[in-house]
Amino acid sequence: MNAVAIQPYALLEDEECRQRILAAKEKLGDRLVILGHHYQRDEVFEHADFSGDSLKLSRQAAQSNAEYIVFCGVHFMAEVADILSRPDQISIIPDMAAGCSMADMADLAKVEKAWRELSEVLDPEENITPVTYINSAADLKAFCGRHDGIVCTSTNARHVLDWAFGQKEKVLFFPDQHLGRNTGFNMGIALEDMVIWDYDQPMGGLTADAIKNAKMILWKGFCSVHQMFKPEQIDNFLEKYPEAKIIAHPESSFEVCQKAEYVGSTEYIINTIANAEPNTRWLVATELNLVNRLNDQFKSQGKHVHFMSPTVCMCSTMFRIDPQHLAWTLENLVDGHVVNQISVPADVAEQAKAALDRMLEVSP
Ligand code: 13P
Ligand code: SF4
Repeated sequence: MNAVAIQPYALLEDEECRQRILAAKEKLGDRLVILGHHYQRDEVFEHADFSGDSLKLSRQAAQSNAEYIVFCGVHFMAEVADILSRPDQISIIPDMAAGCSMADMADLAKVEKAWRELSEVLDPEENITPVTYINSAADLKAFCGRHDGIVCTSTNARHVLDWAFGQKEKVLFFPDQHLGRNTGFNMGIALEDMVIWDYDQPMGGLTADAIKNAKMILWKGFCSVHQMFKPEQIDNFLEKYPEAKIIAHPESSFEVCQKAEYVGSTEYIINTIANAEPNTRWLVATELNLVNRLNDQFKSQGKHVHFMSPTVCMCSTMFRIDPQHLAWTLENLVDGHVVNQISVPADVAEQAKAALDRMLEVSP
């Protein structure tokens, strides 16, 4: 018998999916682990055995003994789970269309072109450590692996950059310019020492001198969700609620992060609000599903958690994972069919793992 197709599941109500997911989880027992990123919608998030930010979920995937790792998150996360798990474990994403628009802003051809162009000005192998944000395809992590580079997440970017500058004098950071700039600035690197590599222009749109003088070369990538947050939104909110506390994910712009009292990963945002005094008010620059969940979770403590932007901006690719796709995935597993397996080619996985292992070693 072949795998069951997704189409009939699209017609199911969420509650029916819920019951079927619970039944399938029961049948699969410890052969299955479901990892859920904090941006997942509640109807999916409730089924996660472990939740976390990218770093925590990578570690969870590396430690898991389950035969099937079902990743409710985006594509690069399921790739990392495949790379860090044992070869006999199977990494699955319930909807293959759950990508990351930021990750798509850097591809291997463009990064290799940048590396070649940089070599016209200096010797990149001698002078530059490539650092990729975990929000990137496996072949870019492999690129970092074979060029003595490293991966970072929003949690460990500072530790990773400390390590990277310990190796070579410059860093090429991709794909998120904001995480790179925010972290570099906090380490004492001046804004003028961080230049933008515009991948659509020859030589990244930079002069030879600009490249030679730079400490960090920041890829011109960004997150379409976090770019919605603006410093004026903070000013307006503080006019109304002067006592409010501001917290931002470091994928937000430099101007937003400078105005925020707290900056960190999704896990950091959750812990900071959880550990705060009761009856506090928070303005949060991160994805809507997480902000709404925090507001619901902590309103009994008198904590008010507000979303920074006046316009709704969910991560549409995280939202692709719905109860219908999760039910479809799990019921196929119960019937012995693996659907939507994420399988990174062995040579790519080996080099990517080198860069990921370096990251795990330097992470706090
Ligand atoms: P975290 O690792 O902080 O959860 O961030 C992942 C992400 O994609 C944020 O947009
Ligand atoms: Fe990618 Fe932004 Fe979505 Fe995070 S929120 S997964 S960076 S598109």
